[in-house]
Amino acid sequence: MLQGRRVLVGIGGGIAAYKVCQVVSTLAKLGVEVRVVLSDHAQQFITPLTLSTLSRHPAYTDDTFWQPTHHRPLHIELGEWANTILIAPLTANLLAKLVHGLADNLLTSTVLASTSPILVAPAMNTEMWYQQSVQRNWQLLQADPRYHSVNPGTGILACDRVGAGRMAEPSEILTYLHSLLYTQGKRDLVGKHLLISAGGTREHLDPVRFIGNPSSGKMGAALAQAALHRGAKVTLVHAPMEARLLNTLPGARLIPVISATEMRQAMVNSLPEADWTIMAAAVADVRPTEYSAEKLPKRLLPNQLPLSAAPDIVTELSHLRRPNQRLIGFAAQTGDILTPALEKLQRKKLDAIVANAIDQMDSGFGSDHNQAVFIDHEGRKVAIGQCSKLQMAHHLFDFIHTMSSKAG
Ligand code: C5P
Repeated sequence: MLQGRRVLVGIGGGIAAYKVCQVVSTLAKLGVEVRVVLSDHAQQFITPLTLSTLSRHPAYTDDTFWQPTHHRPLHIELGEWANTILIAPLTANLLAKLVHGLADNLLTSTVLASTSPILVAPAMNTEMWYQQSVQRNWQLLQADPRYHSVNPGTGILACDRVGAGRMAEPSEILTYLHSLLYTQGKRDLVGKHLLISAGGTREHLDPVRFIGNPSSGKMGAALAQAALHRGAKVTLVHAPMEARLLNTLPGARLIPVISATEMRQAMVNSLPEADWTIMAAAVADVRPTEYSAEKLPKRLLPNQLPLSAAPDIVTELSHLRRPNQRLIGFAAQTGDILTPALEKLQRKKLDAIVANAIDQMDSGFGSDHNQAVFIDHEGRKVAIGQCSKLQMAHHLFDFIHTMSSKAG
């Protein structure tokens, strides 16, 4: 999906420029065509040679802007060429220029000569970031629908301060770019609240032992990311998941749970505000009937474990929801994925179900990839071949948009 897509990377004059090398290198390895423009100040931190080598193409600077070697003005050529622009690190100076439409160098001129979406990743010292003038400019930039942003985080800054202003990590920037290359910047989920469940629930027998499943929560996290990138408000109810995945969701409301019973409570509580609810969690179907608050000694472990049914959350949500609230389930299957998924769609009265195979190579549980068939309540089917979970999430949102309103 990224093969042959065209990303222009504009680098501002800040120490975080070194981290942008990682972004450029990763994009190039994924088959993305990358062109890099360095501001004069960026060249104090990293060299055009570094970026030429990593992007497999000569990097541009203000010196190249004025060289009469191009048959068309370079900023027009680059502006038309780019599918998406990344500006990182976005300095206070560059921010002010973008907000006011200045075109005093190759990068700012290219921005004005292009209509593609722009992702910005600010980075600066904490005092600079919190200046009224900078915050005012930041608000103005965010009000411009062309701009998407990965907000600076808090941490140790190069000036030895600990505070806000640290550039987002390359992985966060890359994920957002991935979304923009898919959506071309559309924000078709603005005004929608998505309630998403993720991860595998754990049904404890004692504080240590539980019945669980290998769900990593990656699909649910990808749904949350894609929804945020398209402008939605997101609540993610998640079973235990790696902190690394949850850290990729700034802006989402996170509700941690452990068991199916806790997940049921959190989902029922959150349902009234949700426009779309997506049950991507792998919820246990059964739980141990007895729970011991103390760890059971080995000799007291039963040979047979009495089990009771866990709450069927999605079925309950389908009874509780208002007619205009959409409800989508997942069916992780082996073998024939379609027949059981169709049966679940009808029995649980869902608007749609995502039938995904968990017995294929590099797909389903724990993988960064997935393949699936979407089926809606009218029997419409769309098969999506193997792709990243983020891309699968975008395909699903496109599918939901095209569905007619009501499940039976
Ligand atoms: O486990 P199963 O394949 O039946 O899951 C189908 C759908 O039902 C999924 O969306 C899952 O999150 C949901 N489910 C649930 N409560 C359960 C079991 C599954 O909400 N106890």
